[in-house]
Amino acid sequence: MKDVNLLPNHVAIIMDGNGRWAMERGYNRSRGHLEGSKTLEKLGIYILNKGIKVLSVFAFSTENFKRDPNEVNYLMNLFIEMFTKKYKIFKKENIKVVFSGRTKNLRPDVLQAIDKMREETKNNTRGILNICLNYGGQEELIDASKKIAMAYKEGTLDLNELNKESFYKYLYQDLPPIDLLIRTSGEYRISNFMLYQMAYSEMFFPNIYFPDFKEVEFDQILDEFYKRNRRFGGN
Ligand code: FPP
Repeated sequence: MKDVNLLPNHVAIIMDGNGRWAMERGYNRSRGHLEGSKTLEKLGIYILNKGIKVLSVFAFSTENFKRDPNEVNYLMNLFIEMFTKKYKIFKKENIKVVFSGRTKNLRPDVLQAIDKMREETKNNTRGILNICLNYGGQEELIDASKKIAMAYKEGTLDLNELNKESFYKYLYQDLPPIDLLIRTSGEYRISNFMLYQMAYSEMFFPNIYFPDFKEVEFDQILDEFYKRNRRFGGN
């Protein structure tokens, strides 16, 4: 058995390859998102049940609004379906679901579904699922800078108290730094995902589409993670 202290605190996943998974099977892209949502539900519960405290997932980027409106609509409806129906499962599993991203541009029914999921799970304590939706890493840093400027202007922030740790309070969620980042589908980019939080994360880019990324594939990466020697800039 692995020493539980060696577990990563915070795992982040860029869930890439849903579209290609579907196209290669002769389905439309939306079918890939549906399969991806099933993978996320099972994998999320599995990861947080292992004792990993936080799982962040990239569900929709600020740039994803540029996609075909039919695909955007499908995804928004899928989010509503998941947040309004599946909250019971997350409640039962004692998982707290939080959201990161801008609310601007999101449909009122999507915002309501987000509220429902958040409210229903807010007292849960086993682990946190952070769903990044209408999210951009640079946007998060801009929004944090604005919050900092406001706090300074209002006199609630002493600039001497702003440091690498306290900066987290101004991000969308005050979560620990990311230890392990996974991007599926064989693409080697971080695509504007949690830029501040991943400063020292170990990165893995498995050559597999997200709908096929299951518990066994996650465990293989975890084994590799244990072997890496994390130095945090020291020697
Ligand atoms: C990227 O794959 C994936 C997305 C833009 C959507 C991710 C959404 C899900 C996994 C759905 C479930 C999420 C929740 C929170 C219910 P892509 O479509 O860009 O794939 P491609 O690169 O092969 O085209």
